[in-house]
Amino acid sequence: MKGIILAGGAGSRLHPLTKITSKQLLPVYDKPMIYYPMETLIDGGIEEILVISDPHNIGNFVRLLGSGKDFGVKISYEVQDKPEGIAQAFLIAENFIGDDNVTLILGDNLFVGNGDFLQDAIRTFKFGGRVFAKQVKDPKRYGVVEFDEQKNVISIEEKPDKPKSDFAVTGLYIYDNSVVDKAKNLKPSKRGELEITDINNLYLKGSQLDVKIYEHYWLDTGTFDALLEAGNKIYNLKNTTPTAS
Ligand code: DAU
Repeated sequence: MKGIILAGGAGSRLHPLTKITSKQLLPVYDKPMIYYPMETLIDGGIEEILVISDPHNIGNFVRLLGSGKDFGVKISYEVQDKPEGIAQAFLIAENFIGDDNVTLILGDNLFVGNGDFLQDAIRTFKFGGRVFAKQVKDPKRYGVVEFDEQKNVISIEEKPDKPKSDFAVTGLYIYDNSVVDKAKNLKPSKRGELEITDINNLYLKGSQLDVKIYEHYWLDTGTFDALLEAGNKIYNLKNTTPTAS
């Protein structure tokens, strides 16, 4: 299993914080944001990680993370020239992925306090796709899962005006090697991006998408409030009993 951290993007929702630096380098309590998704991959047993960022910020990630030696893993780097979609990561990473399976995590997504849940999900993965859905208050901001009456997943919609459930797809995606070919056949969406939701729907069509309900703490730190909440959550986890979640 290879790992990718996608850490580019315009970050314009967090201006002026992100005017001269990358969102994924901002502090979340006592560490740069990217440490958290990186630790999620490392805890899942992944030893080779590719960090993808934009041309302005990639050098800062190299300065911060280096070869990965300090973390006991091998880290390499690629540039995404323009933020043309999350699924573009699989095209940029084609050589890195080679014949392996791959876990992609968004550099601004924090999964904390989940014990062995994600570790096991990554370690036990065999084929198809595996994603994690979390109940949220504001589903319109996310990829949203639609269930039928038997609770089977029937579709995923990207940022729908009228969400069919309040379960958001989180930014951790585990795929088999066919994801590279799937990404090659995607067409850009109306907003001009190669959508990760389209990849998920391709796996779903082939009855190969395993949607796990995620009941632990997850945050997409894309807003000022979410960034502050994340810092407070980490502070609380570190300063209370180990059983807190
Ligand atoms: O956080 C989970 C959500 O992430 C999912 O529910 C959505 O289905 C998925 O589309 C995505 O939505 P966002 O609105 O959060 O995506 P955003 O454009 O903010 O990008 C997420 C992260 O990926 C962000 O840190 C920037 C980075 N990124 C994004 C794009 C589009 C890149 O590095 N390159 C890109 O081309």
